[in-house]
Amino acid sequence: MHVRQLLIGAGLFGLSLSQPACGGNWASLVEKSLSPKTSIQCDGDNQRWSDYAAPKAGAVVIVGDENDVAKIIVAASKTNTSFLIQSGGNGWANTFKLDSRGIIIDISSLKAITFNAKKTQVTFQAGVTNKDLIDAAWNNNARVSASTCNCVSVLGATLGGGLSRTQGVYGLNVDNLISLNIVDPNGIRKTVTRQNNPELWWALTGAGANFGVITSATYKSQPLPQAQNTAWTGLLLFNESKLEEVITAIDKLTLAPDMQLDIYFTANPATGQPSVLVLPFYLGSAEVGRQKFASILNVGPIADNTEVIPYNTWNTAGDPFCTPGGRKPSYTTGVKKMDPVAWRNTWNEYIAFFNENPEANLTTILTECYSTAKTAKSVKNDGSSSYPFRDIKCHAITIPWYTSPSIDCSAVKFGQNVRKHLSASAGTKSPSSYINFAHGDEPLSQIYGSSLSTLKKLKQKYDPKKRLNQWFPLS
Ligand SMILES: Cc1cc2nc3c(=O)[nH]c(=O)nc-3n(C[C@H](O)[C@H](O)[C@H](O)COP(=O)(O)OP(=O)(O)OC[C@H]3O[C@@H](n4cnc5c(N)ncnc54)[C@H](O)[C@@H]3O)c2cc1C
Ligand SMILES: *[C@@H]1O[C@H](CO)[C@@H](O)[C@H](O)[C@H]1NC(C)=O
Ligand SMILES: *[C@@H]1O[C@H](CO)[C@@H](O)[C@H](O)[C@H]1NC(C)=O
Ligand SMILES: *[C@@H]1O[C@H](CO)[C@@H](O)[C@H](O)[C@H]1NC(C)=O
Repeated sequence: MHVRQLLIGAGLFGLSLSQPACGGNWASLVEKSLSPKTSIQCDGDNQRWSDYAAPKAGAVVIVGDENDVAKIIVAASKTNTSFLIQSGGNGWANTFKLDSRGIIIDISSLKAITFNAKKTQVTFQAGVTNKDLIDAAWNNNARVSASTCNCVSVLGATLGGGLSRTQGVYGLNVDNLISLNIVDPNGIRKTVTRQNNPELWWALTGAGANFGVITSATYKSQPLPQAQNTAWTGLLLFNESKLEEVITAIDKLTLAPDMQLDIYFTANPATGQPSVLVLPFYLGSAEVGRQKFASILNVGPIADNTEVIPYNTWNTAGDPFCTPGGRKPSYTTGVKKMDPVAWRNTWNEYIAFFNENPEANLTTILTECYSTAKTAKSVKNDGSSSYPFRDIKCHAITIPWYTSPSIDCSAVKFGQNVRKHLSASAGTKSPSSYINFAHGDEPLSQIYGSSLSTLKKLKQKYDPKKRLNQWFPLS
């Protein structure tokens, strides 16, 4: 592997016009005008969350200045160079298409975060992860909506809707957006708001990656002293013989706005044994939290590690899932109803895959359940974003996790089987797959739901040349 790091604009580039940088001649068009903070990595080497169906590029451009994104996209378009925007690098879809000349535009270094004086708004750049934003909010005596995994970029999650533990109170991430600074598919910079372009706003808030490259955004923030910014949460471990009781209790439990819950089928880190773990979450005291989740606690966990913890540690239990690398062909199903038989079948699939593939012992089925109190209401009230699944309570994600490509076939079968078991009893009109958890083998209607036909028309209008076609492309 040869690594040739070219610092653009740093005076190393006398030879650039005669010898274009790796990946094609897009760079020679633009390199002189880029910030010295931006660099090109020519071996295309690129660490992502999953190596399965990962994009392979001719070069990776590491963007050090927000102003450079538009320039790079214009140069790529002029030279017919395919490009992929990459922030957290967590997207696991199999829809990435880059040829050997293609470039990854890595925006993960754009990390600026600024709160207003009242802490009611925060402006942040596209490389900011959930952890970055949560830490900054905590240090500013504020709370912002963020997703449950620290490594995910805030905007990467938000552009697909953005599920958040606190969405029952504050809405989805898209409901917290105030304005978006985008580069459009033609490389033109714009600030988009609900007011100045309701149509494009609607498309960006649910199908964002098809309509623009967001370089920074302004978002709502709640001023809140650290002492009040806590929640009751932690892992409950159940004997798998109680699976049906746990599933029935979750099915019957209406999540109030201040509640959220995850259930995992995963190896217990203490024993290595496949286990049923439940992570309840309540925005308040242990005493009230235990009352609100009494139906689940009454099933009788073997271990109960719940406690009141500060906002800046809420995501810590999920950190192992952020570990990059390995192959993780993942699948999802949106679920309104939880049927104990379907979930026993799902458990059996998990155990069989786990036992047949010892190296796949990190394999996990993660199901995230959210209050729909606020999100479902705003569907009726304004319909102002294209995210289609505001009334869906749970999203189950099957994550087979291993390193040998020889396991791919059985992993794919396992993921598809679980999806089949769960969609058949999901209580939705048709199978649904949240875009940020979807695989890429689903029909587009399963991903974009009732927004699909309008989104396709808007795609024709805003991206007729199909430049932003890497993430569940609408054209
Ligand atoms: C462990 C784990 C936990 C997760 N938990 C949650 C969760 O709780 N809630 C939730 O909603 N999602 C969750 N997700 C899904 C996550 O939202 C998606 O994977 C998301 O697409 C990741 O964004 P990224 O920037 O980290 O990844 P990337 O792979 O860099 O981006 C994914 C796609 O989004 C596009 N994109 C990213 N940033 C921009 C931008 N600024 N402008 C335009 N396009 C952009 C990329 O081009 C790419 O097509 C989780 C994912 C993982 C791996
Ligand atoms: C652009 O590149 C694609 C392949 O990446 C090719 O199919 C297409 O013909 C090219 N278009 C032009 C105008 O060169
Ligand atoms: C789980 O339950 C089964 C059946 O009730 C019992 O035999 C087993 O010992 C239990 N395991 C643990 C770890 O409690
Ligand atoms: C998983 O298997 C690896 C070896 O393949 C081992 O080192 C690791 O401890 C196992 N993890 C668990 C949780 O059992």
